[in-house]
Order: sequence, then structure tokens, then C-alpha cells
Amino acid sequence: MRVQMVLGNWKMHGSLVGNKTLLDGVLAGLAGVDGVTCGVCVPSPYLFQAQFILQGSPVLWGAQNVSQYEKGAYTGEVSVSMLRDLGCSLTLVGHSERRAIYGESDATVAEKFVAAQQAGIKPVLCVGETLDEREKNITNDVVKRQIMAVVEKAGLDAMTNCVLAYEPVWAIGTGKTASPQQAQDVHAFIRALFADKDAELAQNLTILYGGSVKASNAAELFSMPDIDGGLIGGASLDTTEFVSICKAAQPKAA
Ligand code: 13P
Repeated sequence: MRVQMVLGNWKMHGSLVGNKTLLDGVLAGLAGVDGVTCGVCVPSPYLFQAQFILQGSPVLWGAQNVSQYEKGAYTGEVSVSMLRDLGCSLTLVGHSERRAIYGESDATVAEKFVAAQQAGIKPVLCVGETLDEREKNITNDVVKRQIMAVVEKAGLDAMTNCVLAYEPVWAIGTGKTASPQQAQDVHAFIRALFADKDAELAQNLTILYGGSVKASNAAELFSMPDIDGGLIGGASLDTTEFVSICKAAQPKAA
């Protein structure tokens, strides 16, 4: 089902003491907020703490990355079954920082997507173009390639049980948000990729926008017809900002 959703991606930030303050604040701030699914993707060492604090609440928690392998000699990696042990309901896969800094290919991202799904953890597939790619007018080609690598590996049906996140690389952490229309155009393109194959699936896909979303620009972005919420980096580390962004994603009737 297409849901309104806001996820925080803390990236490599946090501390035991700071996380508790932030999560307690988010829980309090989101009390009474309806119609939007909120969650946090915390660094792996803090998943246990997130589980402890968020269990039984409506706020989801998940990882920022996961191994494509189930177990074995993969020093430093975290498996899907470990995420399941820690109560994660979702994990990011293919974040642009994983692709750019750690060299994750489309094929690797597709393997991670499948591994997560098979373990009952919803993958949040991140896609997006660099500035250079946008300037070359190949944004849609890049996004299509990134998505189709997953569809080919996982199958079309698998797309009914995932979240997509469009995050233009040039907008991440730069303060340069895509304009609502720029984001909408790519979201509509993504939905259209599926529409000819399965109209219902396309209609029900949750597609988040990420890249310098703040309380001050969230409502305008989320008002676009194909933007179903956000994947929030920097602003998810500030309770007031994050709660405001979650509120901005509430369905208009709520
Ligand atoms: P910022 O919101 O800090 O631009 O980060 C976006 C992001 O990468 C979320 O995954």
C-alpha cells in the first residue's frame, strides 16, 4: 500500500546519551501524529538502543546498510538476520554514499535488496544522479538503470514490498534541495517505469525524496503528487526539525 513515510538517516552520527535524548524527543513529538509512518536508520551499534527505546511505539527503526551475505568470513559486515534480531523493520540499500565511497555496484545493491527482503526486512532502495549526470541530461537513464538492476534480480513482484528513495547526489548535505518540480518530475518518471508493467503496483509505490529536506521546505516538497514523504539526513538529528518534517508529511485530510 502507498503510505506517507518519513525516515531519518543519521549517517555516522550519534552517541548513547545523545540518541536517548533525540529518540525520547521524537517519541514525544510524534504522539498524536497520524497517517504518516516515521522511522530512524541509526548506525548499527545503536540498533540495540533504538530497539530498547522504540519497541512498542509507532516509530520504526532500521539500518543504513546490510551485507548481501547471510554469514561467514566477512569482517566488519552485518547480516540481515542480525538486523532481524535487533527488531529492524527496514534497511537502506544503495545509498549514494555507499555507492560512491564504498564502490557498491548496482548488482551488489540488488543482492542486498533481495537478502533484506528474504529476511522480512523492507529494503529502502536509494537512487539518484550526480550533478554531472544531471548536467548531461541523463538523470532518468541513471535512475532507471539503478532501479532496473534490482527489478531484474528481485522480480517485479518484489517491488510491492519495498520503498524507493530518490536522492539526487548534488542535493545531499549541500543545502541545495531539488525544487519540488524537479523532484516531482523524477518521482513521476519512476512511477511511470512501473505503470506499463503493473498499474496497481505503480500507484501503490511509496517514493520518498531525500536531499536537504528541512522543516522549512518539507511541506512544499510533500505536496507534490508523486512525493510520498522524505528520507532525511542532517535534519533528522534535530528533534524539532524532524518532528516538523514528519508532521508535514501527514495526509492533507488528517
Ligand atoms: P541531507 O538531508 O543531510 O541532505 O541527507 C540526505 C540523505 O542522504 C538521506 O539519506
